[in-house]
Amino acid sequence: MSHTLFPLRRARLQRSTLAVPASNPTMITKAAESDADVVFLDLEDAVAPGDKPQARKNAVEALNDIDWRGLGKTVSVRINGLDTHYMYRDVVDIMEQAGDRVDMLLVPKVGVPGDLYMVEALVNQIEQGCGLTTRVGIEALIETALGMANLEAIAQSGGRLEALHFGVADFAASMRARTTNIGGLNPHYPGDQWHAAISRMVTACRAYGLRALDGPFGDFSDPEGYKEGARRAAALGCEGKWAIHPSQIAMANEVFSPPEAEVTKARRIIEELRKAEAMGKGAASLDGRMIDAASEKMANNILVLADAIEARG
Ligand code: GLV
Ligand code: MG
Repeated sequence: MSHTLFPLRRARLQRSTLAVPASNPTMITKAAESDADVVFLDLEDAVAPGDKPQARKNAVEALNDIDWRGLGKTVSVRINGLDTHYMYRDVVDIMEQAGDRVDMLLVPKVGVPGDLYMVEALVNQIEQGCGLTTRVGIEALIETALGMANLEAIAQSGGRLEALHFGVADFAASMRARTTNIGGLNPHYPGDQWHAAISRMVTACRAYGLRALDGPFGDFSDPEGYKEGARRAAALGCEGKWAIHPSQIAMANEVFSPPEAEVTKARRIIEELRKAEAMGKGAASLDGRMIDAASEKMANNILVLADAIEARG
């Protein structure tokens, strides 16, 4: 291990992140009753410009009226981008009127570390000015070529940053990738055209102690396509994926939960290594395969997740 370590800044169970337009109060109520681990109330792209002020009011109201934490939910608000005049008002209204009720702010289209610096400076001032004691976290959406180019610097910025999300729709647009399909595979590409981007983002997250989340899959009439995308993201180290439709919540929760057989195997790995250790050995074998200290780390990742899922109930 390097002498330089960046521990995980903030652990949260985030298998499913449900996106809800804050312009739609009925959907917000349903989201609170859903099985999503995290809900984000969207003030950005799912809200038409003319609806922005009302969506902001709805978000404040929903944060204050619904007991999100009591319902076992983490609640986030996606503010508008720093290139819009909505953004400062989003932060000021949400933080001043519901700053102790919101868990995270999701910042879209982050391009440079300074974008997060600005949000963090505002949040710091409002928290101090209003005497808030709960510390709001920040999540950043990596969804532009600029954000991807500055990924490692962004991942190291600010004290509040706790997760990066891959926004495949805006990223495709920013890259001018030949598609209009949100998150689906391009049949002309041999493999997954988003592999390199997601893999790079996960690497930056794991290097600097952030959670790594995969973004949307637009075709909610294609559950298999959704699950395949989620499985690919999980294979690369993402811990969850967005749901842009209620039907995608259960699929995300399933794919990002280790199956019982995996948990049992993880426990057996630890047991066998403890036995080997008692005999003065570092490595052992399990079911005809070599296991060693790295296997223990992989097994522990599974057990920590299984415990978090059990604790959620
Ligand atoms: C999400 O915001 C995306 O652009 O995919
Ligand atoms: Mg986007």
